[in-house]
Amino acid sequence: MGIELTYLGHAGFLLDDGRNAVAIDPFLTDNPVAKHKPSEIRCRAIVLTHGHADHFGDTVAIAKANGATVYAAFEITAYLEEQGVSKLEPGNPGGKISADWGWVAFTQAFHSSSYNGRYMGMPTGVVAHLGGVTVYHCGDTTLFSDMKLIGEIYSPDVALIPIGDRFTMGPELATRAAEFIKPKVAVPIHYRTWPLLVQDASGFKPKGVEVKVLEPGETWAYR
Ligand code: NI
Ligand code: MN
Repeated sequence: MGIELTYLGHAGFLLDDGRNAVAIDPFLTDNPVAKHKPSEIRCRAIVLTHGHADHFGDTVAIAKANGATVYAAFEITAYLEEQGVSKLEPGNPGGKISADWGWVAFTQAFHSSSYNGRYMGMPTGVVAHLGGVTVYHCGDTTLFSDMKLIGEIYSPDVALIPIGDRFTMGPELATRAAEFIKPKVAVPIHYRTWPLLVQDASGFKPKGVEVKVLEPGETWAYR
């Protein structure tokens, strides 16, 4: 059991257990650090944390090219239906959705969520489980003490934690977040993409949690 995690840059990931692949927040076009093109992504499912363009990204093109199912907030799936995406699994915080490859659960996040001015529902974090590995993508959020509870409930192996500051936690609060969640490994995300964001992960130093820094385009095997 195990998965490969490919960092697509910014907050995007491709999780692959060797049989099925799941993309999270696949923002590639207009992403200055992305190494992949949308046409290179092969996946069964796409999971979105919220509707902002730096997360929604190339969802429509990738979903159509792969016949992939999209798991996202109800308002996002309603928009995707209008865009001609047919396989949709709407959710909201607290909900857990089973799939033949594993499951997805939505958690809360303190942020906003819109796309081209349209309200896209609650922003969320997502927990995805496949290949026997549980990954908690915090989404865009500040620190909140219930991250401790999310860590207890889902026992994530890997947590993907925003550290870029301004629109999310910065390194100091993200360090506290990792110490609340207590994953086996924490990966810093949502930084360095643009000059407005924190440019390196040196300030992200949670006690008792291994930190794995991934380069955009890099694949890391977690077993
Ligand atoms: Ni956002
Ligand atoms: Mn963002």
